[in-house]
Amino acid sequence: MMSSSTEGADKRAPLKVALLGCGVVGSAVARLLSEQADDLAARVGVPLELAGIAVRRPNRHTDVPAELLTTDAEALVSRPDIDLVVEVIGGIEPVRSLLLTALKSGKSVVSANKALLAEDGATLHAAASANGVDLYYEAAVAGAIPLLRPLRESLAGDRITRVIGIVNGTTNFILSRMASTGAGFAEALAEATELGYAEADPTADVDGFDAAAKAAILAGLAFHTRVTTADVYREGISGVTAADVASAAAMGCTVKLLAICERTEADGEELVSVRVHPAMIPLSHPLAGVGDAFNAVFVEAEAAGSLMFYGRGAGGAPTASAVLGDLVAVARNRVSASRGAGESAYADLGVQSMGDVMTRYHVALDVADRPGVLATVASAFADNGVSIQTVRQEGRGDAATLVLVTHTAPDAALASTVERLAQFDFIRRAGSVMRVEGLPSD
Ligand SMILES: NC(=O)c1ccc[n+]([C@@H]2O[C@H](COP(=O)([O-])OP(=O)(O)OC[C@H]3O[C@@H](n4cnc5c(N)ncnc54)[C@H](OP(=O)(O)O)[C@@H]3O)[C@@H](O)[C@H]2O)c1
Repeated sequence: MMSSSTEGADKRAPLKVALLGCGVVGSAVARLLSEQADDLAARVGVPLELAGIAVRRPNRHTDVPAELLTTDAEALVSRPDIDLVVEVIGGIEPVRSLLLTALKSGKSVVSANKALLAEDGATLHAAASANGVDLYYEAAVAGAIPLLRPLRESLAGDRITRVIGIVNGTTNFILSRMASTGAGFAEALAEATELGYAEADPTADVDGFDAAAKAAILAGLAFHTRVTTADVYREGISGVTAADVASAAAMGCTVKLLAICERTEADGEELVSVRVHPAMIPLSHPLAGVGDAFNAVFVEAEAAGSLMFYGRGAGGAPTASAVLGDLVAVARNRVSASRGAGESAYADLGVQSMGDVMTRYHVALDVADRPGVLATVASAFADNGVSIQTVRQEGRGDAATLVLVTHTAPDAALASTVERLAQFDFIRRAGSVMRVEGLPSD
């Protein structure tokens, strides 16, 4: 069992930390706070003392001092002796209320809660600002990977144009297994569940909700604009088939679930587009080699050029590393009576609707062996203003498949083309309709 107080002869008044949640991440935070107490004290300038831990079921937590446990999180965040609050419960309520209570009573907050920050970060930021305290949340996106601080601080002098990343380890594991073994989605998901990469209810991961929340946070920071989960176009990976993955491989690509945040414009107005969907990317793309449950984010900025951030996007200790980094930062600010950067949403850019976003598609069509088929298919694309970059025929006779890759076009035009194709009786099946990213631009 860990010690409930910092041992040794440090006489400086400690900063008292309340920990909300002691699950996968919280228990690693508690352990590291104890194990690294001396180093943390040296880095902050005063000791960090874990002064209370809020949980639901205290009798399950035998690895932390029993006297620190409470089920009354509201009372814990209201305690006048608490200086800093670390939130690793997750979800919207009661966490939003708890954090507002903490911020309003002058406590800085560190959170790993992507769902809350993406849904209502503005309210929390406003409370932090009004009360002169910090709100940090590095662990909310891409776990251990230092990413939000670089966007918020290191790149504050640059103009970020694009952030594209693999920010969900579960789906990356599933897609990587599908690519390496030829397995279908259900089989790869079953393996992910067995190995502990997927939760019993995998909806948040496989349907892209988790990645969409992270995309909203990334876009907000990158483009100095408020972006919420509702602004993010989202498609998950449950519709990705073994045939899609094989089709991608046949053209030197692999399938990844991407979070894409881009600066764009329409009619002279600067906009942002934020989307999460599976896409084929060339094997030469830096994100193509990101396998297993790893995360990676590729950032393009005007002056800096291309930057790549890579590492573990989840897990107790990796996520706790990011939480503790934030805790040291907010504790140092507290010691020096200063604050870190608050919300930066001055640019206030509009969000482009998905139909207007310029994308390109890969379409594989199983076609009957009839004269004029190719011309009719080509005219369906042309009628929607979509130009075709490459056409390839695989197989012959009634086993023929036409594989087309388009140039970029508005997503709505591509979707209408696919709808039109579905109406042709000579197309036996429109398989492997998927967006393609990262090909040389046309
Ligand atoms: N796990 C990861 O790898 C990871 C990575 C990045 C970010 N995050 C984020 O970190 C947060 C925590 O994730 P986790 O995986 O550690 O979750 P978890 O294992 O489910 O732990 C949640 C903890 O919160 C406690 N809790 C739940 N409701 C509570 C309430 N109303 N009052 C007080 N305590 C309550 C639970 O108590 P009991 O244990 O007593 O039930 C548990 O200790 C989430 O926001 C998640 O998105 C997690």
